[in-house]
Amino acid sequence: MSRFSRRQFLGRSLVAGAGISAFPSLLRAAAPNETLGVVVIGVGGRGGSHLDAYASNPRTEVRFIVDIDESIGASRAESTAKKQNGRKPKVVRDMREAFESKDVQIMSTATPNHWHALAGVWAMQAGLDCYIEKPISHEIAEGSALVAAAKKYGRMCQVGTQCRSNPAIIDAMKFLHEGGIGAVKLARGLCYKRRASIGPLGDYPIPDVVDFSLWSGPAHYTDPQLTRQRFHYDWHWQRLYGNGDSGNQGPHQTDIARWGLGVNSHPLSVIAYGGRLGYQAERKDENYVDAGDTANTEVAIYDYGDKTMVFETRGLSVDNSADEELNRLFDSTRGNKIGVVFYGSEGYLVQRTYTDCVVYDKDLKQVRQFKGGGDHFGNFVDACISRRSADLNADAWEGHLSAALAHLANISYYLGEKHLVTEVEAKRVLDGVKSYDDNVATLERTLKHLTDNGVDLAKYPVSLGPFLKFDPAREIFPDSPEATALVTRDYRAGFMCPTADRV
Ligand SMILES: NC(=O)c1ccc[n+]([C@@H]2O[C@H](COP(=O)([O-])OP(=O)(O)OC[C@H]3O[C@@H](n4cnc5c(N)ncnc54)[C@H](O)[C@@H]3O)[C@@H](O)[C@H]2O)c1
Repeated sequence: MSRFSRRQFLGRSLVAGAGISAFPSLLRAAAPNETLGVVVIGVGGRGGSHLDAYASNPRTEVRFIVDIDESIGASRAESTAKKQNGRKPKVVRDMREAFESKDVQIMSTATPNHWHALAGVWAMQAGLDCYIEKPISHEIAEGSALVAAAKKYGRMCQVGTQCRSNPAIIDAMKFLHEGGIGAVKLARGLCYKRRASIGPLGDYPIPDVVDFSLWSGPAHYTDPQLTRQRFHYDWHWQRLYGNGDSGNQGPHQTDIARWGLGVNSHPLSVIAYGGRLGYQAERKDENYVDAGDTANTEVAIYDYGDKTMVFETRGLSVDNSADEELNRLFDSTRGNKIGVVFYGSEGYLVQRTYTDCVVYDKDLKQVRQFKGGGDHFGNFVDACISRRSADLNADAWEGHLSAALAHLANISYYLGEKHLVTEVEAKRVLDGVKSYDDNVATLERTLKHLTDNGVDLAKYPVSLGPFLKFDPAREIFPDSPEATALVTRDYRAGFMCPTADRV
């Protein structure tokens, strides 16, 4: 089976015609020893860590803050000024204003997911280096566009999977690649992370302080209507903007799973099953409709030919519903389990937190541990100065491959949303899917988890997405035009993210 490499991809995306640039390319290289000016975009939640990182780094200074929420932008500018000896960043609502300034060399973004790729492409067209939060894209084609833009404009583009800079994970991956647990054919990523309902689907007011048109950006803006109670954060669970927990927590773990398995391309196929389940029981109202439309329970099986990755997302209470082996590997029977298990011929390696990995022998006796955190923002700044993209610990290509795993799973899941299945049918289909996992055992564990949480599977069955072959080189589903249509999205006029051949 031929594999698709980074080099082939770049060759393909850059052959085609003229790019469409929203910005004239500016010469922005800072003189040696000159402080690099930074614009941080989206400073509500995670953006706070971006601000702290650049404000505390002597080589950088935050000069612009962009947020469509005036109140957040203003208060972050005050707190940033205190960390920068009074140098207060300018606050604007529209990122394009900051991109036009010659005072900035770096763009760092923590907006909602649907804005990541377009912000990155615009910034690189304007000559800026980019740090883009995970998932780097909202759609598969957007990730390719970022890879192509970084190459075309010679920009540093780092994705916010910060585990890539943590010695605990770096050393554990090295140990794995050196055969520390023997041959590894299977990695299982876990996002067992409790997520309560985001409230009933409804028609809610948009806060006065936000610019909803700019917030919506590339997504639909047919009607300024908000269907969720809380404006910020809960967009993660609405598919127009977010990618569910498979695309939220998921990219941290699928990235590590892919790194450990040593696969540097897309998988050859995917199949996903799950649902947005259990909130009727949680709210004690059988007619309850939650405002989210991403899966809160999702299992995806990815085939890499000689290796398998499985990713499990669980949003209901995760107490008591893992099996004995997983409980022992995570050294806990209750609560969240967020990590990756590598199954080797000589033992197991478990990424248990962002700064802690443990090795077990085949008898589940702990034999080794790796610990330690690092500085992912610092690594990015190093590369901005060295001008060597090879210095980046998580470049656009890595970000693209890992984000695409969430998108691949969600495409199968969304296409299967209405295909509600009995346990018997699900077992029959999954038993026939090639995998180094025991697909049926994983399904049984998932169903037990749901029934433990009060889900009546006869009334609210899981849905099963189609098994989809994927062509890693062309980034299409050769047997499914409807899946291929979901590799991109319908962009709103004025907010179109170009494809890789047109960045
Ligand atoms: N690397 C990590 O560990 C980590 C942790 C948390 C979140 N994240 C990522 O960070 C991103 C943000 O997540 P969050 O939970 O902080 O979301 P959030 O909704 O809490 O914050 C997003 C902020 O972006 C602003 N915003 C939205 N659109 C904008 C635009 N067009 N221009 C400027 N500002 C805009 C919002 O007003 C808000 O302040 C997500 O992509 C998420 O996956 C990464």
